Amino acid sequence: MSDLLAVILAAGKGTRMKSALPKVLHTIGGKPMVEQVLNAAHIAGANRKVVVVGFGAQSVEAAIGDQAEYVVQEEQLGTGHAVMQASSLLQDFDGTVMVLCGDTPLLRGETLAKLFAEHQAAKASATVLTACMENPTGYGRVIRDNSGQVLKIVEQKDANSHELAVNEVNTGIYCFDRVALFDALRSINCNNMQGEYYLTDVIGILAQGQSKVWAVQVDDYQETLGINSRLQLAEAEKILRKRKLISLMDQGVTIMDMDSTFIDDAVSIGSDTVIYPFTWLEGSTSIGKGCEIGPNSRIQNSSVGDSATLHFIYAHDCQIGNDVTVGPYVHLRPNTVLADGVKVGNFVEVKNSQVGAGSKIPHLSYIGDTDMGAKINIGCGTITVNYDGKKKHRTTLEDGVFIGCNSNLVAPVTVGKGAYVAAGSTITKDVPPDALGVARARQNNIDGWVNKR
Ligand code: UD1
Ligand code: CA
Repeated sequence: MSDLLAVILAAGKGTRMKSALPKVLHTIGGKPMVEQVLNAAHIAGANRKVVVVGFGAQSVEAAIGDQAEYVVQEEQLGTGHAVMQASSLLQDFDGTVMVLCGDTPLLRGETLAKLFAEHQAAKASATVLTACMENPTGYGRVIRDNSGQVLKIVEQKDANSHELAVNEVNTGIYCFDRVALFDALRSINCNNMQGEYYLTDVIGILAQGQSKVWAVQVDDYQETLGINSRLQLAEAEKILRKRKLISLMDQGVTIMDMDSTFIDDAVSIGSDTVIYPFTWLEGSTSIGKGCEIGPNSRIQNSSVGDSATLHFIYAHDCQIGNDVTVGPYVHLRPNTVLADGVKVGNFVEVKNSQVGAGSKIPHLSYIGDTDMGAKINIGCGTITVNYDGKKKHRTTLEDGVFIGCNSNLVAPVTVGKGAYVAAGSTITKDVPPDALGVARARQNNIDGWVNKR
């Protein structure tokens, strides 16, 4: 098997997106579309990936990082010119060059693997992935001779009426022998209706010479659809989302309502977890087995253990353990870690805090910058006063602490192991282990006050 390298064309601006962002950085399934293409190339076995950047080159490189190598195409003079920019980088590469576009995020790795396998089996110099379309308008047409041999590809704008009637189109995805590709690119020109250096001309050049040109038809042309507008982006998002939901259901996850469930590509979910409607699971989120998630929940870049129940919550950059119950109406902010068996209830916000195993924050509390041990009970309305107007301070609550309702814990402060805080206290000094901290005015009843008034 020869070595595989992918060249991904992504220098264009994507004018029809009407965006300051380069087209290939618009996200789909929670990732920039060019990253989806890179993933597909990776699955197909491409060891090296080279992205041709131009418009917004720096932001593309920043978003993709070391997942690829980069070459810059200063001026967008056509797809052939774009590939030529990679010529010196690939000088010593001995193998197959797969050319892809950065704006086809629906491509499956399996499809590319099949293209590569057929290209090798055919021992071809070039293999083009084609698609038959009811309406081929706008695409390059694949022109074959009577025996079915590919002769050339003709762009829509350069095609005659016979050629326009062909409904087999070029998907813009190819495998090339590296040497044959760059040899042929040396002889293309821009004498065509668009004044561009067409990569597609390489096919005609190779076919005319003694090189073998092969074509493979894609099973599902939807995969090769390019994104040019926001409408196409939304349509593709829907297709990708459905694929993800189906694969999760195949793995034993229950999705109650596919139309109102939004799960990014990279999210993993264990079997027997039930996802209720209106739920967004985003970024690098992972969810364990046997959980109930939603309805109306948004969870970003967080990990959730097994048998957790999370309803009506917003959580981002958190770790949630096994058998945890959260919600309804809870906001879990970054760096919150809930250990196993924790319960966080109605209208609670937790930020940058550790909550130890079996601890409870059942109602109406703000817990920020706090280290909580195990088996703690936080009374309704408790607030950690973590901000003095300039700096944030931490609160430490040791194992088994009991905080009475409506207390303020003014940080930095520690409540020792097993200690109690009386309801309504504003605690400004440490409470020793096993003590009761009371910090409120004593009640004074004035007898007969109402009649005397
Ligand atoms: C191209 C093909 C056409 C095919 C279609 C499939 C050519 C000449 N035509 O047409 O046969 O049916 O794709 O979608 O190749 N790009 C650069 N630099 C450039 C020009 C383009 O990086 O100088 C990139 C674009 O950003 C884009 C991709 O190459 O990702 C395709 O370019 P585009 O102009 O969209 O080609 P089409 O006209 O669609
Ligand atoms: Ca295009």
